[in-house]
Amino acid sequence: MTTVAATDLNYHRYSLTKYDRDIVNAIPFHRELHERLVSIIEAHFAATKTYNILDLGVGTGLTTKLIKDYLPQSHFDVVDFSDNMLQCAKQRLGPVNVDYFLGDYALLDFTKKYDLITSVIGLHHQDMAGKRILFAKIYNLLEPGGLFILGDLMTHQNPQLNAVATARHYHHLVERATDEQTLTDWAHHHLYLNQLDTLEDQKLWLESAGLKVEVAFQEWHTALLVCRKT
Ligand SMILES: C[S@@+](CC[C@H](N)C(=O)[O-])C[C@H]1O[C@@H](n2cnc3c(N)ncnc32)[C@H](O)[C@@H]1O
Repeated sequence: MTTVAATDLNYHRYSLTKYDRDIVNAIPFHRELHERLVSIIEAHFAATKTYNILDLGVGTGLTTKLIKDYLPQSHFDVVDFSDNMLQCAKQRLGPVNVDYFLGDYALLDFTKKYDLITSVIGLHHQDMAGKRILFAKIYNLLEPGGLFILGDLMTHQNPQLNAVATARHYHHLVERATDEQTLTDWAHHHLYLNQLDTLEDQKLWLESAGLKVEVAFQEWHTALLVCRKT
């Protein structure tokens, strides 16, 4: 289940420029995560071919844009439950080869099959049961051999690692926030709105859904999992 409304997240107040500046300040290793994601996509997909791609929680389209630049022939379905974010994504991605869906991806019915499904910093408002249901849904939406790339904030099973990662995460927020209101927004977001689960649990749930999982990146609470439907 999705545990927040779109308006709880403040994204309805953000311009494309403000979101793009703030997200790298709010999410440690946001850039590195994307560099890794692009290198994985380059290794698995041919630039000249056409694929069906789904992005869950497109935001302003930062993640989709990087993929679209490498796979310009592909078709993208992108989803967000914030109308403002979807409008920002439209500004960035334009009308060609992109269909925009406004709604909660946990509730929407998708009819196509996809070669690649991505969600970067877009799944952490699902509770545990919601994540498990979504992983099964994603498995069913993937073509055989298809990839699900999940980049998100994930906690550690080890309490010491977890404590240090949490401390570093808040330090990063305090150091980088551009003003007091922005710090308040993101500190509230992280402390009260996020539903973080451990990487270990999420890996198990993805495997239970039928996916083969590789941990491609993990620093503090930021992680990237590459999941293949065999
Ligand atoms: C933080 S952005 C990340 C966008 C992009 N991947 C990036 O890294 O910049 C995540 C987006 O997911 C959307 N979102 C969160 N939960 C959602 C849900 N259940 N259904 C649809 N969109 C959701 C939020 O509105 C937000 O725009």
